Amino acid sequence: METVVSGIRPTGNLHLGNYFGAVKSFLRMQDEYNCFFFIADWHSLTTHPHPDNIRNSVKTILSEYLACGIDPEKATIYIQSDVPEVVELYLYLNMNAGIGELMRTASFKDKARQQLHISREGCEGDVEKEIFNEGNKHSVSAGLLTYPTLMAADIIIHKALKVPVGKDQENMEMARRFARRFNSTYGVDFFPEPASFHLGDKSVKVPGLDGSGKMGKSEGNAIYLIDDEKTIKKKVMKAVSDAGPTEPNSVKPEPIANLFTMMEIVSEKETYDFFNEKYNNCEIRYGDMKKQLAEDINKFCAPIRERILDMAANTEYLDKVARMGAEKARESASKTLNEVRQIIGFRPY
Ligand code: ADP
Ligand code: TRP
Repeated sequence: METVVSGIRPTGNLHLGNYFGAVKSFLRMQDEYNCFFFIADWHSLTTHPHPDNIRNSVKTILSEYLACGIDPEKATIYIQSDVPEVVELYLYLNMNAGIGELMRTASFKDKARQQLHISREGCEGDVEKEIFNEGNKHSVSAGLLTYPTLMAADIIIHKALKVPVGKDQENMEMARRFARRFNSTYGVDFFPEPASFHLGDKSVKVPGLDGSGKMGKSEGNAIYLIDDEKTIKKKVMKAVSDAGPTEPNSVKPEPIANLFTMMEIVSEKETYDFFNEKYNNCEIRYGDMKKQLAEDINKFCAPIRERILDMAANTEYLDKVARMGAEKARESASKTLNEVRQIIGFRPY
């Protein structure tokens, strides 16, 4: 059976983007693959080095994973920091990773800019220059720089072939590269190259309803699985729209296309077709469309929301799932790590 690995950082509640971009694939894959789904708490330190209550944040994602239907009897669900083997592999991968290639990744540059407090625009936007500028009182952590090696270690420690992730993750390219590099450095054919996996033939990008491209925690436009009916309605009714088309069959401007994409994701096909036809006939009433969309999102979230609340209240069960997951994940990880130690020339444990 092929192995699958994926994780989400515990930096807040899961939102519809996380669900349709990642978790939905987890649910489909757990029946057919040897799945490892984890909570990337070490990764959250790369941007949140002083977490308020990391155990609570981890518990939140664990409850939400389970409430969505990830089944601990089928998949191994674990907390990254419960598997110390990952760190040792991370160390070996870092020895063969170039700081140049790590600094050139777009996600590093974006987050480094934030840590350095420099804006994207203007002449002071040069990340490299600012990293070496002793006058800048802010610094970029080595942890952020090596985010992709830690992610590669997460994946290849279980020799995974498939990695279900949402929007295109350039870090996956790095993971493939580090797997190949390990093999060529030590002259072995040990790690398979992992590939991103999407349900259907392309990755889903859940849009934001504020007129922008993507729904995300940091974008401040997320609809969370835990949101109640009133909150969902408020968020959807606030969605950006316009005065409506004046010509039949007009191309949809981005904010409108986003509303329709969201409807395509959560509503019945007939509902989508109904409003699409109204749009094409220039008869669309966005108020009606949003009301319907809010209703459909609520219909989708309500049962998950209830299960999240049940799960979160059952600390004993959550602990049991985490303990069982850690045990299974460590068994798989330590097997790989022992072989890695031997390949490099160290004594196996
Ligand atoms: P966020 O951007 O809210 O911080 P993460 O970066 O933690 O979310 O993403 C966790 C997982 O959810 C990743 O697999 C990511 O690709 C997926 N994901 C996040 N937002 C979206 C979105 N809007 N559409 C599709 N997938 C998404
Ligand atoms: N980078 C992923 C995110 O932003 C989280 C993550 C860490 C991950 N390690 C991983 C995803 C390994 C897939 C596989 O959400």
